[in-house]
Amino acid sequence: MPCSIPLAKRYRMERSLCGALPPTTLQSGFRLVPWHDRLLEAHAKVLHRAFAEDFDGRVFPCFRTLDGCLELMRAMRGLPSFCPGATWLLTAPEGCIGTVQGLMGEHRFGMLQNIGLASAYRGRGLGSALLCSAIGGFRRSGATRMNLEVTASNLPAMRLYEKFGFRCIRHVYKPTASSSEPEASATIAPIIRAGNDSGDAIENRR
Ligand SMILES: CC(C)(COP(=O)(O)OP(=O)(O)OC[C@H]1O[C@@H](n2cnc3c(N)ncnc32)[C@H](O)[C@@H]1OP(=O)(O)O)[C@@H](O)C(=O)NCCC(=O)NCCS
Repeated sequence: MPCSIPLAKRYRMERSLCGALPPTTLQSGFRLVPWHDRLLEAHAKVLHRAFAEDFDGRVFPCFRTLDGCLELMRAMRGLPSFCPGATWLLTAPEGCIGTVQGLMGEHRFGMLQNIGLASAYRGRGLGSALLCSAIGGFRRSGATRMNLEVTASNLPAMRLYEKFGFRCIRHVYKPTASSSEPEASATIAPIIRAGNDSGDAIENRR
């Protein structure tokens, strides 16, 4: 019987944490701020700005509301695997504009979560700078490899990851949000699990 639930194709990508990274620069006025608990709400606000109307907002409804993003950040912060060193906020003179979070999986595997920038700030190297900070944080925290998941149609993100040497190791299919009503908590667990093998997605090794 044909499946009536729309599925989003996502790639699991990996790279070793050895080896050089592409050069990145931070234009003047921008600042990378390391994790502190008092920044949780700022991260959530940027997540909402970056993802609500974008590729992953269509797959994960929690990104569509600020409450959903707050719940996601609180859930990640509460995990024993939360990796503060790989979690960064990016600020511009106007305020907070970028975020990335990290989790440390089994066997010292860094798991990149939700790198995102407010749309007006994309395409000028800031995503690269955020990713570089997260990679540095994983290295300092003792990780030897790292992985991430990306929606297959998200070409800007795919290009960013390929530029940093990530290679696709398998693809997975995740049910997309078919309802226009956001149900924040229902989709948080699959996002947080995105970096390990226990997710509830349909997987195919490449
Ligand atoms: C993905 C994202 C973080 C990239 O940030 P960014 O600041 O635009 O990326 P950069 O300017 O550092 O670009 C890095 C590389 O990605 C590629 N790239 C960036 N934007 C692109 C676009 N619109 N189309 C195609 N390639 C693009 C380029 O190859 C670029 O490298 P180059 O300029 O040296 O050629 C940003 O697009 C974003 O926040 N998207 C919404 C949230 C999201 O989908 N996050 C990813 C979740 S998996």
